[in-house]
Amino acid sequence: MIKKKEDERNMKTTLYHASELDSPLIKAHIHEVIASGGLVVFPTETVYGIGANALDSVAVKRIYHAKGRPSDNPLILHLDHVERLKEHVKTIPEIAYPLMKAFWPGPLTMIFEKKDHIPMDVTGGLNTVAIRIPSHPVALKVIEIASVPICAPSANLSGKPSSTEFKHVLEDFMDKVDIIIDGGQTDLGLESTVLDLTTSVPMILRPGMVTQEMIEKVIHIPIIDASEVALKETPKSPGMKYKHYAPMGEVTLLRGTVEAIEGYLNRIKKEQIESRSSAILAPKEFDKRLIGYYQFELGSVFYPDAIAKQLYSMLRLMDELSIQTIFIVLIKEHPLNKAIMNRLLKAANHQIVDL
Ligand code: TXA
Ligand code: MG
Repeated sequence: MIKKKEDERNMKTTLYHASELDSPLIKAHIHEVIASGGLVVFPTETVYGIGANALDSVAVKRIYHAKGRPSDNPLILHLDHVERLKEHVKTIPEIAYPLMKAFWPGPLTMIFEKKDHIPMDVTGGLNTVAIRIPSHPVALKVIEIASVPICAPSANLSGKPSSTEFKHVLEDFMDKVDIIIDGGQTDLGLESTVLDLTTSVPMILRPGMVTQEMIEKVIHIPIIDASEVALKETPKSPGMKYKHYAPMGEVTLLRGTVEAIEGYLNRIKKEQIESRSSAILAPKEFDKRLIGYYQFELGSVFYPDAIAKQLYSMLRLMDELSIQTIFIVLIKEHPLNKAIMNRLLKAANHQIVDL
């Protein structure tokens, strides 16, 4: 155990390290916290999750409260074994089987018709439920210790970038949850792909590192990517309508050639934003140093996995440095993958300048 702390509200957060989870005392503590309706933050292979007993409505409400999350935005049920799926869903469509075989445990969430015992608080009032089996050993261990399904949204205050490092979780949840487990930096850095299997044609509601192409290759039928639904339409996935992943500063995406973006940034620095602290987040291939800006490298466009892994840390760093204006460079001839673009567009509230 690293340390224990109490605050004025007498909510104690106990911190554990992932390597300590074999201790019978710590296991008993985790079990007891979940059984009594408490909250445990743990790492998954995608991002950290803030977990509670999915069958306990009061515990589920605590998650919404801790995150400041709108109650119509449903949560993902995390299971530790494929065998458990049938306990919680009405039907398992045929195509789910090859998908489970190919991608579970792992960063694919699938939506099914829920059985009645899953509280509406988990599903935001929907008759469907999102389910995934994470591959991170700590996540699996927490679910096993809890011996109930764990609903776990990303462990970030609503609207902020998801937590991919232990320190992000501390910033957002110290003394607001019962236990936080330190598992270091998460591997993938972006949340799971969400795939709806309750529609006649399967639909991607949130792109992730399991891509449309990877899914189609497994099920041999074309699917629909519904993740870029215009914000004015009623989205299928309630989470799609909220501003997300956003630092406090104003984010603008700039798309064009390296030279066009360089010209634009030099021009506006002179004209408009002399007094504001401004930063540029750009891939390695933007090989320019510009005067008057903090400049940060996102990684190479040829290694999207590395960009995905660092992205939320970079966005959170902007807040640490109190950056007011943030430009993210998209080099036209090297488009980024859908999952990364989806998060960037949301961080920028869809503000994109084509140059
Ligand atoms: O990688 C992940 O999925 C992480 C880790 C912790 O597992 N979890 C995560 O949860 O990102 P959350 O709550 O931040 O995002 C869940 C997304 C939301 O966009 C939500 O609207 C959608 O899944 N969702 C959940 N249940 C749904 C349902 N029944 N129908 C449609 N969308 C659903
Ligand atoms: Mg989230």
